[in-house]
Amino acid sequence: MIPRIYIPGDSGALALGAERIAKAVRAELAERGIEAKIVRNGSRGAYFLEPMVEVATANGRVAYGPVTPSDVKSLFDCGFLTGGHHKRWLGAPDKIPFLARQTRLTFARCGVTDPLSLDHYKAHGGLNGLQNAVAMTPSDIVKQVTESGLRGRGGAGFPTGIKWKTVLDTSADRKYIVCNADEGDSGTFADRMIMEGDPFVLIEGMTIAGIATGATKGFIYIRSEYPHAVAVMQKAVEIALRAGVLGVNVLGSPNSFDMEVRVGAGAYVCGEETALLDSLEGKRGQVRAKPPLPAHKGLFGKPTVINNVISLASVPVIMDKGAAFYKDFGMGRSRGTIPIQIAGNVKYAGLYEAAFGMTLGEIVDDIGGGTATGRPVKAVQVGGPLGAYFPRALFDTPFDYEAFAAKDGLIGHAGIVVFDDSADMLKQARFAMEFCALESCGKCTPCRIGSTRGVEVLDRLAENIEPEKQIALVTDLCNTMKFGSLCALGGFTPYPVMSALNHFPDDFRPTPVAEAAE
Ligand SMILES: Cc1cc2nc3c(=O)[nH]c(=O)nc-3n(C[C@H](O)[C@H](O)[C@H](O)COP(=O)(O)O)c2cc1C
Ligand code: SF4
Repeated sequence: MIPRIYIPGDSGALALGAERIAKAVRAELAERGIEAKIVRNGSRGAYFLEPMVEVATANGRVAYGPVTPSDVKSLFDCGFLTGGHHKRWLGAPDKIPFLARQTRLTFARCGVTDPLSLDHYKAHGGLNGLQNAVAMTPSDIVKQVTESGLRGRGGAGFPTGIKWKTVLDTSADRKYIVCNADEGDSGTFADRMIMEGDPFVLIEGMTIAGIATGATKGFIYIRSEYPHAVAVMQKAVEIALRAGVLGVNVLGSPNSFDMEVRVGAGAYVCGEETALLDSLEGKRGQVRAKPPLPAHKGLFGKPTVINNVISLASVPVIMDKGAAFYKDFGMGRSRGTIPIQIAGNVKYAGLYEAAFGMTLGEIVDDIGGGTATGRPVKAVQVGGPLGAYFPRALFDTPFDYEAFAAKDGLIGHAGIVVFDDSADMLKQARFAMEFCALESCGKCTPCRIGSTRGVEVLDRLAENIEPEKQIALVTDLCNTMKFGSLCALGGFTPYPVMSALNHFPDDFRPTPVAEAAE
């Protein structure tokens, strides 16, 4: 059997030099006259170990990382093709603590399989969920998804089954499934990782959604900054179509489902579902007033399911192993697993899929290993640019939608960004207002005007001009934005601003003149 070498080809690993490793490995193989197959898998998500190269040996896979081009020659000298020892030797990948401690349901195949091999996908449990779905009635599928407790992973945490039921119950000549792959939140990369590392799971999830609701057409709306994901998804759709996974007779059943990949034009607000629909329709992406809900009147005025990539990619395992299996993980009303994306100033950055319920402290200190700089953690922003900054005092908060909401925070798309004690929280608050001003779609006044005024107020505070007055003003302004904005861009910008102000008040107090002069 010819040796098999796995070198990730996803954009995260590529950014860390995986292409140079692939080139060096190819050159070394040629020079030594060794025949081997190089598989460009996705990353397993332990980015601090990327580029992580794996070889398939008689005793299973053996990993090496992080590999540099200058390591490649010595890897061959050490007999890495049969798992030989080397300074980069990590052993069996699933025994690496960062990976071993995870509960991988949605990301089970990511990093393991060849992303564009449908045979590999099937050999690792792929299409089992869809096989089950084609033998069920739409309402039974919706029931399974509802009973699993799956909630939208895009940010709002809305129950997926209820959304699907609304579309199923709305009669129309045409319905759509739209996958939201705009992934604009800072520090998030789960959607990109799964699209690049296991694209068929998203296709399978969308197809199940189509069969469950009576929709025959799907669109995947991917942000333009993700060219690799776009390319992989397009190829995967073609392969699925040729194999009869998509098309007029899905897996030989009477159901038909087809899909297309569409590329966004680069606006954060186009991740908001109604702005996304406008953008898909070829218009400028602007938020629509609700009602009507997209489930009643969505894309081109037809009933539409809009779900995040991870929500849809979690459906196949539910349909394969059953609602009770999935629901068994998690806590409270947050059921199943969540791919937590650990980023920012952190030692072990990467994607960590776990059941809901770990505390923020466990995630940051135990899994993330604290800051990369070695300085104390000062704050953690959870849930993207609209998420709150949590101080260490809130590290006992479990990763659960309700627990975070109770502390005036949100889980959002489960991205966490870590900051050390050199962070200036007044600057972070200003950044939140500035971000809102830049990305506002302009439809409503509290967001369009309020964010610009917010920047000005925080600038005056930084200049120590009537500080108490500015603090009262920004608090009032946040209140107006929170309750008066049409969508969560204006409505949630107060979360980072007010959490920074409430949890780190010292950063908002002027430095006494005498002290500053010292
Ligand atoms: C400003 C803004 C940006 C958003 N960006 C995204 C995004 O990039 N991806 C996403 O899935 N949801 C995003 N959302 C949430 C979507 O509006 C919507 O709730 C989600 O796509 C529904 O899918 P889910 O139920 O599977 O989470 C955003 C919301 C707002 C207000
Ligand atoms: S809150 Fe901002 S982004 Fe949302 S509709 Fe209003 S102006 Fe547009």
